[in-house]
Amino acid sequence: MGSTVLEVRDIAKSYGPNRVLRGVSFGVEKGAIYGLMGANGAGKSTLIKILSGAEQPDGGRILLGGEPVGFPDPLAAQRAGVGTVYQNPNDGVVLDMTVAENLALDRLTDRDSPRGFSRARTERHALEVAETLGMHLTKQVLRWPARRLGVSDRQLLVLARALSRKPEILILDEPTSALSAEETSRLFDLVRSLVADGMTVLFVTHKLAEFDRLCHHVGVLRDGAMPGEFFRDERHAFDWPEVLTALFDRTPAQMRRDELPAGPTVLSLRDVQVFPDSKPFDLDLHRGQVTVLLGLLGSGKTELLEWIFGARPVIAGRRELSGTGEFAPEHPGDAVRDGVYLLPESRHEQAIIPDWPVFSQMTLPFLKRFSAGTLMRGPAERRATRTMMDDIGVVARDPSSPIHTLSGGNQQKVVIGRWLLGEPKALLLDEPFRGVDINARHDIGATVRRLTSQAAVLVATSDLDEALEVGDRIVVFNHGHVVADLGLGEASRERLIDAMSVTTRKDSA
Ligand SMILES: Nc1ncnc2c1ncn2[C@@H]1O[C@H](COP(=O)(O)OP(=O)(O)OP(=O)(O)O)[C@@H](O)[C@H]1O
Ligand SMILES: [Mg+2]
Repeated sequence: MGSTVLEVRDIAKSYGPNRVLRGVSFGVEKGAIYGLMGANGAGKSTLIKILSGAEQPDGGRILLGGEPVGFPDPLAAQRAGVGTVYQNPNDGVVLDMTVAENLALDRLTDRDSPRGFSRARTERHALEVAETLGMHLTKQVLRWPARRLGVSDRQLLVLARALSRKPEILILDEPTSALSAEETSRLFDLVRSLVADGMTVLFVTHKLAEFDRLCHHVGVLRDGAMPGEFFRDERHAFDWPEVLTALFDRTPAQMRRDELPAGPTVLSLRDVQVFPDSKPFDLDLHRGQVTVLLGLLGSGKTELLEWIFGARPVIAGRRELSGTGEFAPEHPGDAVRDGVYLLPESRHEQAIIPDWPVFSQMTLPFLKRFSAGTLMRGPAERRATRTMMDDIGVVARDPSSPIHTLSGGNQQKVVIGRWLLGEPKALLLDEPFRGVDINARHDIGATVRRLTSQAAVLVATSDLDEALEVGDRIVVFNHGHVVADLGLGEASRERLIDAMSVTTRKDSA
């Protein structure tokens, strides 16, 4: 047994009347990867912000190597050897600086470094930092402003920065939610090798399989307290039913899994070519069932969804909407007007208005409906929001709380709820389950399922288990092309994995 390197004793934190942490205590041994679990809103990120100096606790103590420490700010925690990757990758990226400047940020701000960094030096440092994660960046990408990067690249960027500092204790708050399976494996290999060299890790995720891959010890946070810690070793796996009982006050509901039959066609896509070198395809989306678009990161799912929504062009293609005929939105506003909605992949920039209350976020696209010439807007809006919050289990004290005071997973649910409040003909959801806990995933799945009675629903995901859990029909997308189209009954894991990974470029056919 190693020695305890990080000890948390009786940490408490309230936001106003909301007691978020009510006395949390646990210890992490040197060289361990400690898994921290908890439902959305349980207090994980708050605890992490306290451990990294971004928030101050109301009470309790933190000990490093047996010595009590206090971190007045994040820099103090970093100096003490605690490195943190926050849940929202944008918290670690300066969007207006270049990719190179972001990677080299620690050197640029290091007081001991020579002043007046040249671009060449910055780029050299940036490449070194990127190398920690095995990222290969071209000169061109190094010079992009960071806001041009997608969520997954931003996540890799903050991970590379944190790892390059070689912290003694590394804290990762849902680091894999925006990563592909391959990037996740690469990160895990790297974490394992750093741990073998003596680093200690505190790791948060909602994916049980990731705890099985990385951790021997997990602590469960629930309502701001730690009701249990669980162990496994080479011979005994984690007792997941017991862990889930500690995690939730109800066990995850069993989803109804009868495959629903296809209803009438709502949206037809014809001769769609997503990339210059991808083959054209046709796709019909029906009411009455949930269609999953399954593909790895970079397969073109987001491009396809954004094109349908009028948010970006593709190389070629036609869209038709039942009742409307040719459907060619020039702008998302046109799509919304015709009843086609998209839940975008990068919620933070595209979908959330930071200081607005929850109810305004939800009713945002439908202001007309709620303001129909009366003074009643407030109450009606609030009532509709409250009902939707209950349906999908948003944990917020009240619909007028500003959205940034909600936990990451609950912000996500609000943005989903927004689109479920409308009356869509076609609903496109890009990675809707990112960062939501298992119960919420079921609730969202069930709500989406109910909507299929009135709308065609397309859920894009790169996660096989999610696909099998929510889809009646699974369309596998690979380099901008449909390579398999299977009913739930015929979709085995093996078939799906095969289809996701074959090469399908135009010239290889
Ligand atoms: N700045 C803030 N002001 C007010 N309340 C806050 C603030 N930040 C967090 N909270 C509240 O603290 C509670 C815990 O949030 P936290 O973000 O720690 O949850 P979490 O366990 O990380 O959840 P998730 O899995 O969704 O990320 C929530 O009820 C949240 O609304
Ligand atoms: Mg969180």
